[in-house]
Amino acid sequence: MKYEHLIFSMEDNIALITFNRPKKLNALNSELLDEFTGALDQIKRDENIRVLILTGAGDKAFVAGADIKEISACNTLSARLFAEKGQHVIGKLQGLSIPAIAAVNGYALGGGCEIVLACDFAYASETAMLGLPEITLGIIPGFGGTQRLARLIGTARAKEMIFTGNMISAGKALEYGIINKVLAPELLLDEVKKTAKIIESMGKVSLRAAKEVINIGMNADLDTGLALEAGAFAICMAGEDAREGTSAFLEKRKPVFKGGFRG
Ligand code: CAA
Repeated sequence: MKYEHLIFSMEDNIALITFNRPKKLNALNSELLDEFTGALDQIKRDENIRVLILTGAGDKAFVAGADIKEISACNTLSARLFAEKGQHVIGKLQGLSIPAIAAVNGYALGGGCEIVLACDFAYASETAMLGLPEITLGIIPGFGGTQRLARLIGTARAKEMIFTGNMISAGKALEYGIINKVLAPELLLDEVKKTAKIIESMGKVSLRAAKEVINIGMNADLDTGLALEAGAFAICMAGEDAREGTSAFLEKRKPVFKGGFRG
């Protein structure tokens, strides 16, 4: 697939998607959302891709939200279809079996913040500002923000952000647990890549199992989550990676994970 509004690149087994409409602060129009869906499908099909990093082109924005020009022309039906399109692609991102990390290099507003919320975790530059300013446009977040933000930081903080539309700094987002680290802008992508590289070296079966169990377990009761965990733990134990990882520890060497299953 050819991409016009995003850049898709690979480094070793790590995929990098850069939202690329810098003149519009990487705002999400329908074409960009379609390309994002295509890129995620491409990643899903490629077993060699082990980690995904998302960032924005330019030094101002990660993504400044859904394209307001496009939204402004929506009627009730097209607005619903647009929200469903955004929710679908962001759901696809969250449902990826590989880890996805956001490198938040500037404004992450509206749909941009909603992308961050669907990643497994995020690092941000000191200059980043995050928020769900939809209320200032007379609308509400439509790509999952009301649901994922409240679940992540609690309803009171989410309501304050959504009702006021105020942006928060990277430091505040760190305090709220929306991002994991704040970095100088010039260090951000390298630091995300370093973490991605560590993750990439782990067993792909156990990584996928860990992500799946956490994601499903977070929407289930504790007993269901624990049962899922025990089952996935047992499946990991049947894999070559478990033999390699435990043997390497006992033999005092570094493991080399290949991700196969015992015959
Ligand atoms: N949609 C479309 N265009 C956008 C945009 C957006 N979300 N955000 C910025 N742009 C455009 C601006 O219109 C401007 O284009 P022109 O040069 O052609 O005029 C260009 O990007 C640069 O933006 P500014 O001149 O506004 O830059 P600034 O530095 O003065 O301000 C900003 C930066 C505070 C991020 C400001 O651009 C802003 O408030 N943007 C809108 C943020 C927003 O409300 N996002 C939510 C969108 S709705 C949504 O996302 C719904 C949902 O849940 C899916």
